[in-house]
Amino acid sequence: MPASMFLTVWLLLCIHLVRAQKQIGATTHPEEAEALNSIFAAWKIRAPRDWNTSGDLCSGVAIADNVTIDDKDYNPLIKCNCDFQNYTICRITAIKVYKMNVVGPIPPQLWTLTYLTNLNLAQNFLKGPLSPAIGKLVRMTFLTFEINALSGPIPKEIGLLKELKSLGIGLNNFSGSIPAEIGNCEKLLNIYLSNSGLRGEIPSSFARLINLENAAITDLDITGQIPEFIGKWTKLKILKILGTDLSGPIPSSFSNLTSLNELNLGDISNGSSSLEFIKDMKSLNILVLRNSNLTGTIPSNFGEYLNLTQVDLSFNKLHGPIPASLFKLNQLTYLFLGNNTLSGSLPTQKSQTLTNIDVSYNNLAGSLPSWVSLPNLNLNLVANNFALESLDKRVLPGLKCLQNNFPCNRGKGIYSDFSIKCGGPQIRSLTGEVFEREDEDLGSASFFVNDVNRWATSSVGLYAGRINNMWAINSLEGEFFQTARHSSSSLRYYGLGLENGGYTVKLQFAEIETLGSKLWKGLGRRRFDIYVQGRLVEKDIDIRRLDDDTTVRPVQREYKAHVSENYLEIHLFWAGRGTFDIPALGTCGPLISTISAKPGITKQLCATNHNQRKSLGLVLL
Ligand SMILES: *[C@@H]1O[C@H](CO)[C@@H](O)[C@H](O)[C@H]1NC(C)=O
Ligand SMILES: *[C@@H]1O[C@H](CO)[C@@H](O)[C@H](O)[C@H]1NC(C)=O
Ligand SMILES: *[C@@H]1O[C@H](CO)[C@@H](O)[C@H](O)[C@H]1NC(C)=O
Ligand SMILES: *[C@@H]1O[C@H](CO)[C@@H](O)[C@H](O)[C@H]1NC(C)=O
Ligand SMILES: *[C@@H]1O[C@H](CO)[C@@H](O)[C@H](O)[C@H]1NC(C)=O
Ligand SMILES: *[C@@H]1O[C@H](CO)[C@@H](O)[C@H](O)[C@H]1NC(C)=O
Ligand SMILES: *[C@@H]1O[C@H](CO)[C@@H](O)[C@H](O)[C@H]1NC(C)=O
Ligand SMILES: *[C@@H]1O[C@H](CO)[C@@H](O)[C@H](O)[C@H]1NC(C)=O
Ligand SMILES: *[C@@H]1O[C@H](CO)[C@@H](O)[C@H](O)[C@H]1NC(C)=O
Repeated sequence: MPASMFLTVWLLLCIHLVRAQKQIGATTHPEEAEALNSIFAAWKIRAPRDWNTSGDLCSGVAIADNVTIDDKDYNPLIKCNCDFQNYTICRITAIKVYKMNVVGPIPPQLWTLTYLTNLNLAQNFLKGPLSPAIGKLVRMTFLTFEINALSGPIPKEIGLLKELKSLGIGLNNFSGSIPAEIGNCEKLLNIYLSNSGLRGEIPSSFARLINLENAAITDLDITGQIPEFIGKWTKLKILKILGTDLSGPIPSSFSNLTSLNELNLGDISNGSSSLEFIKDMKSLNILVLRNSNLTGTIPSNFGEYLNLTQVDLSFNKLHGPIPASLFKLNQLTYLFLGNNTLSGSLPTQKSQTLTNIDVSYNNLAGSLPSWVSLPNLNLNLVANNFALESLDKRVLPGLKCLQNNFPCNRGKGIYSDFSIKCGGPQIRSLTGEVFEREDEDLGSASFFVNDVNRWATSSVGLYAGRINNMWAINSLEGEFFQTARHSSSSLRYYGLGLENGGYTVKLQFAEIETLGSKLWKGLGRRRFDIYVQGRLVEKDIDIRRLDDDTTVRPVQREYKAHVSENYLEIHLFWAGRGTFDIPALGTCGPLISTISAKPGITKQLCATNHNQRKSLGLVLL
């Protein structure tokens, strides 16, 4: 080792030792220590032994260089900087109290910790307002209050936090509008506003947030046109706009968002858009443009989007053929094209990775390619005009009954009712009514027709990797509500071969996925829409009725329906509302326990209700 280098190493070592020495002698600034102790006391939590080793807060891992605030092994955790007053005083620079179910307001002492650069209070049950004093934390770079029960307006003083790189206020109970002052935080890389309760328009000052890489704006009552200036956020890697009241068309400026890896737009009404704006987004992994009034054709150059793993263009008005290039992408796994007016036939070649395909509700025709009989394929071909005469009976059984106009027993009408136990085994009610089992694994795109062609189900849906679409719970008294069928996008039930006439459709639900009313897990919100015979009968229904953390109360709905062509269709549809990651990613969209239909409105139906109420020991609404 050359002498100069030896000297440098030796010097560095000395400096390090001296610093370490100083830090051992340094103590937490007394006012900050008092503030943190009272915050933790109010939240009824304690600092573990790993830090606060000597009774001084800035000790142990709080000052260890090899432990960062994001280290999963330490929670709660603070980090300190002890470079103050000639290395004798430490200031608290970071606080993490993550996913600890802390209940209560944010103590005012928090706003005195002005050296904070990193504050993570996500996934608790914090209540009450955010104080305008938050504006004192001017050094803040990473700030999250996501998944709490905070309320009141977002103080405009957030705009004073000019160093902010990440702001998470999503899933709270805030009110009022999005403060225009947030547009002053020009260093922002991440902004998470989803499910926050804010309303109004996206402020025009947001045009200045040109450094954004990640923006989530979902499940919000925000209105107006989709802002053209979002096209200036050219560094965006992830953009999510779902379940808002924003209206289209999608601005052409979006074509400049060429760094996007994930584009997730949905539920945009009014103006229609073509797919022209995605033409240079070749870095996309995930492309979701769902329920957004898209028109025109699917571009034929999809072969250039090499990194695509998931494409969802369902619930639009796209027409024309399905480009063969889409089926050849060798990373693509999920392809959802349902509810458009696509025509032509299915491409004859399919990449090996493409194993989840939904083309239901289109105008596709022709015979099916040979790949449809491959194993481990999730395929939904419902409601098209395919030529199925030559199809082997073991391949896609029942599909013939689920083509356009639902031809099985059409004209005859051999059934007058059906009852289904959604997502579970057969159950007989006290009155002897048999709810037939409906517990096939439907994966993320599939259908099932019962053995005597009496009823059928069709399911599509994946959100962020979750494909399990049956749900079970053991703690309930009522057998009916121990299981449910889930879909994160679209779930349809059909009555087939029905006698024409008036029917009463009865649906029963119980929220068994998001339980616990005083825990962060209980903050999840499910909303979905219900169509009966194509008529919207429920918008954003909330099926959750919780008296406390353990009692689940079922919800029951009845609708009248008219059958004129021997089939009945009940469609449960997610329109982007509610949360989609609580308690786990993909918890969104319809969840249903039973479905039944009877002709007319009978007295027997009422009697059934009464007995069920008794047998469940639960209150039916
Ligand atoms: C740190 O330790 C001291 C002495 O044991 C204790 O009084 C104080 O409450 C602790 N602080 C926290 C935040 O737990
Ligand atoms: C950090 O370093 C100390 C020694 O300096 C060691 O005892 C401790 O295990 C380390 N912690 C981690 C998380 O690496
Ligand atoms: C800092 O501390 C060192 C050693 O304890 C001392 O020599 C020096 O004078 C101090 N400097 C100031 C500015 O107090
Ligand atoms: C949210 O606020 C509303 C009133 O604005 C209140 O009724 C509701 O209980 C609050 N929800 C939670 C989870 O705190
Ligand atoms: C894309 O950005 C360039 C450069 O800022 C601009 O000139 C162009 O008009 C933008 N395109 C659209 C469609 O807005
Ligand atoms: C629909 O779009 C038109 C033209 O773009 C606009 O004038 C109108 O206000 C929009 N309506 C709604 C409800 O957003
Ligand atoms: C779709 O766009 C067209 C044309 O812009 C508009 O007339 C229609 O109302 C839109 N449909 C929906 C469901 O928003
Ligand atoms: C696709 O992903 C790879 C690996 O992450 C990356 O190197 C490549 O640049 C990406 N392609 C495009 C077109 O973005
Ligand atoms: C699906 O497509 C049909 C037929 O075009 C349309 O009437 C319906 O509104 C679409 N959306 C849903 C949610 O069913």
